[in-house]
Amino acid sequence: MKKNTKINVKDLNLWYGEKQALHNLDVKLYENKITALIGPSGCGKSTFLRCLNRMNDLVDSAKIEGNVIIDGKNIYDKDVDEVSVRKRVGMVFQQPNPFPKSIYENIAYAPLKHGIVKKGSECDDLVEESLHGAGIWDEVKDSLKEPATGLSGGQQQRICIARTIAVKPDIILMDEPTSALDPISTEKIEALMLELKKKYTIVTVTHNMQQAARIADMTAFFHLGKLIEYDETETIFVNPKEKKTEDYITGRFG
Ligand SMILES: Nc1ncnc2c1ncn2[C@@H]1O[C@H](COP(=O)(O)OP(=O)(O)OP(=O)(O)O)[C@@H](O)[C@H]1O
Ligand SMILES: [Mg+2]
Repeated sequence: MKKNTKINVKDLNLWYGEKQALHNLDVKLYENKITALIGPSGCGKSTFLRCLNRMNDLVDSAKIEGNVIIDGKNIYDKDVDEVSVRKRVGMVFQQPNPFPKSIYENIAYAPLKHGIVKKGSECDDLVEESLHGAGIWDEVKDSLKEPATGLSGGQQQRICIARTIAVKPDIILMDEPTSALDPISTEKIEALMLELKKKYTIVTVTHNMQQAARIADMTAFFHLGKLIEYDETETIFVNPKEKKTEDYITGRFG
């Protein structure tokens, strides 16, 4: 598999107050690939994900050391503005969280605020393109003025993905994006992720081993804040090098 580094994480450590949650992480995440983060509850998957777009800056007790180098630039350098980082590195959460506004406004809000488009046809086009990109245009094109919160959970999650891609990120972080969804919606999101990776670099957290095996190119296994093993997904699931990885994926702990 040909791999270009998109995110180069170097010696990353994170503490919440006195408690260290991430230990000496060194990992390269690859462009136009899906990387799955797996591991037992509390092992640091969400914490690590949030380091990739500086969302942990919003947690007062969090202290971070190390580098997260995206396209050659450390996003923790003093001259980097975290709002611009979060624009380039979008995030989709476990619970679909559309704004209590119309479907149209959910998608248009950030691009208008950031001046990516002007009101009117330019904005309309971006809304359409983003909803298309998230595989939900056909389902909502006649109800753009309706509240997004009136949609099903799976549809809301695709609205949130459309909202994320509307600001034209390079990287999409997803924290258990399907764990609140039914199997059909899950399948749609997985198919969408495989489509999205052609344009974006995707890092996703999942507790569903089948999901990781189905969609991820690379899989990283975390335990107690440490990266135990990171490799091509097939190797992790078929031929892991570490006993802990094997125990976890075969359901012996976690
Ligand atoms: N805001 C916070 N303040 C203090 N401690 C935190 C905070 N967020 C997470 N932690 C702690 O950091 C550790 C890692 O948590 P994290 O949420 O990253 O785990 P996770 O792997 O995502 O777990 P899960 O699978 O349950 O979502 C845990 O011990 C957790 O209690
Ligand atoms: Mg988590």
